[in-house]
Amino acid sequence: MKVAAVVSTKGGPGKTTVGANLGAFCADAGVRTLLIDLDNQPSLSSFYNLSHEAPGGTYQLITSNETRPDQIISQTIIPNLSLIKSNDPFNLLSNLLLHAADGRLRLKNLMPAFAQDFDLILIDTQGARSIVLEMALLGSQVAISPITPDMLTAREFQRGMLQLYRDLEPLAALGAVTPVLNIVINKLDATNDANLIYHTLTETFSDHPKIQMVETTIPAAVSFRRAATEGIPAHRLSEPSSQDGQEPRYPRCEDPPMRHGAFRNEDLHDGVNSSRLVLANGVRDVLLHGHSSERAAEHPTTRCGHGEPAILHTPRGIEKPR
Ligand SMILES: Nc1ncnc2c1ncn2[C@@H]1O[C@H](COP(=O)(O)OP(=O)(O)O)[C@@H](O)[C@H]1O
Ligand SMILES: [Mg+2]
Repeated sequence: MKVAAVVSTKGGPGKTTVGANLGAFCADAGVRTLLIDLDNQPSLSSFYNLSHEAPGGTYQLITSNETRPDQIISQTIIPNLSLIKSNDPFNLLSNLLLHAADGRLRLKNLMPAFAQDFDLILIDTQGARSIVLEMALLGSQVAISPITPDMLTAREFQRGMLQLYRDLEPLAALGAVTPVLNIVINKLDATNDANLIYHTLTETFSDHPKIQMVETTIPAAVSFRRAATEGIPAHRLSEPSSQDGQEPRYPRCEDPPMRHGAFRNEDLHDGVNSSRLVLANGVRDVLLHGHSSERAAEHPTTRCGHGEPAILHTPRGIEKPR
């Protein structure tokens, strides 16, 4: 099992969008995926409709160490995609964690309880520095950080992240090691000097052992907004977004990025930096250009990895429960 946190010290760069789409894409590729919504403004929790809603959520998980699936794990309408919903509207978790001896380590200690049932856990977080964010980072083996391409944001990001990583370093003595942070430029449009920002950030973090840039960018694309509105992942939308000026590509297991490890279950089990691969290849080739289509439908049972069926297209007319 691999645990990945989507983090940023800012609101709005696209954490929930990346988490929701990446999670659903992996689920559709046969990876048993659990989303954990640790943002007390629960937008990930309502991104996809639920076919089953558990009574509890992150509040019970964190305050009572509740890990029983029937108590906290909800099922989204997307096969293989489960959710621990956020149910902490008053942000009580922060206070509790600040006063708990194991505060920042609590999530890390709970993760093994899910190893039997899931291959991938994706944690969405608040867009501000908080103990909850620190706990999410320390509970993860890899972190993904979307950033919008403007220089002011980039500078603030640099200050915030470097400080955060410095502050968490001492906890390594307790076995809580900060994960490698993969920065991905999101919402790129024609007006951005992405190149400059990309290179500035790459240079800034070049000496940092834990922070690196993903060699891909996510364009500002209508399909992400449409996906959020319709409650389905972007790769299941059947039409290319209006801003993709290229031939649309469709997620297919036999495509080279997948063959080279992006979505194979075995990568999620071994120590390969697989979530980075998932992100680099998956975000680039699927979140960016991938749309379900007749082409994907020709291969509805294409197999990935350990022979898990990859449902890479949307069954027509997916019904949303009301
Ligand atoms: N690549 C993208 N293209 C277009 N819109 C995007 C993209 N990524 C995110 N958005 C939009 O930006 C807004 C903020 O995204 P969200 O994922 O909620 O950010 P965060 O979780 O970091 O606060 C949402 O309206 C979302 O639809
Ligand atoms: Mg969010």
